[in-house]
Amino acid sequence: MNNWQHISVSRIAGALGAEVGGVHLGQLSDAAFEEVRAAFLENQVLFFRDQEVTRDQQKAFGRRFGTLQIHPFLQPLKAEGHPEFVVLQSDEKHPYVAEAWHSDVTFVEQPPLGSVLRCIKAPEFGGDTMWASMYAAYEGLSDKMQRMISDLVAIHDTARTFSRTDYNTEHIGGKQATQVISAEHPVVRTHPETGRRGLFVNSTFTASIKGMKPRESAALLEFLYRHIETPDFSCRFRWRENSIAMWDNRCTQHRVCADNRTADRRMERVTINGDKPF
Ligand SMILES: [Fe+2]
Repeated sequence: MNNWQHISVSRIAGALGAEVGGVHLGQLSDAAFEEVRAAFLENQVLFFRDQEVTRDQQKAFGRRFGTLQIHPFLQPLKAEGHPEFVVLQSDEKHPYVAEAWHSDVTFVEQPPLGSVLRCIKAPEFGGDTMWASMYAAYEGLSDKMQRMISDLVAIHDTARTFSRTDYNTEHIGGKQATQVISAEHPVVRTHPETGRRGLFVNSTFTASIKGMKPRESAALLEFLYRHIETPDFSCRFRWRENSIAMWDNRCTQHRVCADNRTADRRMERVTINGDKPF
C-alpha cells in the first residue's frame, strides 16, 4: 500500500523500516491510525519524529494495537502509576541494556506483538538502535535450509539474563528472577497478520533446539545468529529527543549500538501483548 491519505511514509532501508510523517500520536484519527497500522505491518518498524506525547498518550497509542504488557521483571514506573513502562537508562555509571540482538520477552508463552519506544534523552552522538527483519533473514536461507529448520522447536528462557545473579537491572527498576522461566516456540514462525514466515530464535533468550544433541543445537543456533546479523537485513535509527520507534516483535530483532558509553540516554517503552507463535 502506498496510496496514503493521512500520513507520509518514507522507507529508510531495503529490508525494513520507514519514517512516518504528518501525524501526532497523541491525536490520531481512526483513519490515520488505520494507515499507521498498515504501514506498521508492511515496514515492520516505524519511526516518528517530534512526538511530544505524555505517558498516558503513549499508553493510549499502544492500546490501539492491543492490551499492554506488564513486564515480568521491569516495572520502574509502577509507583508513579505506570507499571506498563520499561525504562532503558544508561549513563557514565550504568551500561547499555540490550547490546545483543534479540526480540523482547520471548521466554513467555505469548511474546509481545510489539513495542512503542520513546526517546526522552538522546546522546549527542551514538546509541543508535538497529533492527533486523526476520522475514528477510528467513528468505535469505536456501530452500534446503528453510526446509530443514521449518519443523524445529526452540526453548527460550531467562537463564542468560534475568535469572543470572550478575545480571543487574537495578538501575532500571529491575528485579532478579527467582527461577528460570521458559517457553517453547517454533524456530520459523508465521506472522498471524501478514502470513509471512520469519526466523524466531535470538541469542539473548533462545537456549537450545528441542530434540537435538547439545552440539548440534549450539552449531545450528550459532549459524542462525550470525546469519541474522547480516547488514542487508537491517536498518539503523539515529535518535533525537521525542523520536518514537514502534517495532513488530513477531518479525524483527533489535539491539542498541553500544558506543558513546558514557553519554546520558533514556528511553521509555510500552509493550503490546502478543499471541502464541505458530
Ligand atoms: Fe529489546
